[in-house]
Amino acid sequence: MRVPFYDIKAQYDELQAPMDAAVHEVIASGEYSMGPNHNLIEKELAALHGVKHGIALNSGTDALRIIMDAAGIGAGDEVITASFTFVASVETIVQTGARPVFVDIDPATFCIDPAKIAAAITPRTKAIQPVHLFGQLADVAAITQIAKEHNLAVIEDAAQAIGSHHNGTYAGNYGIGAGFSFYVTKNLGAAGDAGLILTNDDAIAEACRSIRVHGMGKQRYYYDHIGYTSRMDEVQAAVLRVKMTKFHEWNERRAQLAAIYLDVLASSELTLPVVSPGNNTTWHQFSIRHGRRDALQQFLKERDVASMIYYPVPIHFHEPYKHFGEGQGSLPESERAAKEILNLPIHPHLSVDQVAYAAKLIAEFCASETSTP
Ligand SMILES: Cc1ncc(COP(=O)(O)O)c(C=O)c1O
Repeated sequence: MRVPFYDIKAQYDELQAPMDAAVHEVIASGEYSMGPNHNLIEKELAALHGVKHGIALNSGTDALRIIMDAAGIGAGDEVITASFTFVASVETIVQTGARPVFVDIDPATFCIDPAKIAAAITPRTKAIQPVHLFGQLADVAAITQIAKEHNLAVIEDAAQAIGSHHNGTYAGNYGIGAGFSFYVTKNLGAAGDAGLILTNDDAIAEACRSIRVHGMGKQRYYYDHIGYTSRMDEVQAAVLRVKMTKFHEWNERRAQLAAIYLDVLASSELTLPVVSPGNNTTWHQFSIRHGRRDALQQFLKERDVASMIYYPVPIHFHEPYKHFGEGQGSLPESERAAKEILNLPIHPHLSVDQVAYAAKLIAEFCASETSTP
């Protein structure tokens, strides 16, 4: 039985009629830039997260960059973040001219460990950027408390946390702004690239809206900021609005599939994902840990079960970022996670049988490992 890691085409197959109609309507309308879908998706996603302002963009990367620009982060500043993340969390800090300061992760959740943040704060620290990895929030209660005590901004990298909350308060409510991604593989994925900023801060919202379009102010061709071309295409907004109709159903499906993995693997010798108290997870990823991860991945591959490694190398080991870190052994949990993590297929178009099959194989592998002398 083949178990693919993603099946984006299956989303289209399920939504073909409304998707074709929505895309056709945009093309036929001639309103390609900041049209009605663009304006509505901003409102709909802001409402979903209980946040005041939504700013639709071309990517999650630009979302993070634009929040930092709007907050005036730049040369001479430091931003605390994780090294065990997708590169965009860090490259955007570097692009502003600020220095990323890496803090290790909590091995249970893969998110930044708040207990290690205080030691990384210096007089140059301007912000903490927690990454809400794999569908659940970082420890937002502890992080916002530290930020308050040290008068620091919090910028949420919520690229993987659409619809994630802690005790009912959603991503987007824990700092000056949150960047979301609708890259094709996300729980809500565009037909290409798209992103979003959510913020409750009126001034940040106004600055972000301006920076999105070259820094233009209220008056056309008068500029308040140095900006970018970062609008969300109207076609992408239309696609996202159609997929929004399935957002909750597809996340519930992911939860059902996660329950199968958790059940079948409960007594196996591996580490299962942990959801922190008060958090939901949208199961953007289902991440296990195993000491012989590469052998397990090969075992699954030979049996047609796909898996991925997010992330094989922490950012502080990559050439362009090495000089910001303190080298091998400086972030032991991030480094260990990179060696042990394996992300299993969990997309909503998998059948129960496919996931049960994958889980059974993993249990088999673990059993054979423990029985080997
Ligand atoms: C943690 C994280 N941050 C930022 C991004 C950047 O988003 P995008 O690919 O939409 O630019 C991603 C997306 O893949 C991500 O996973």
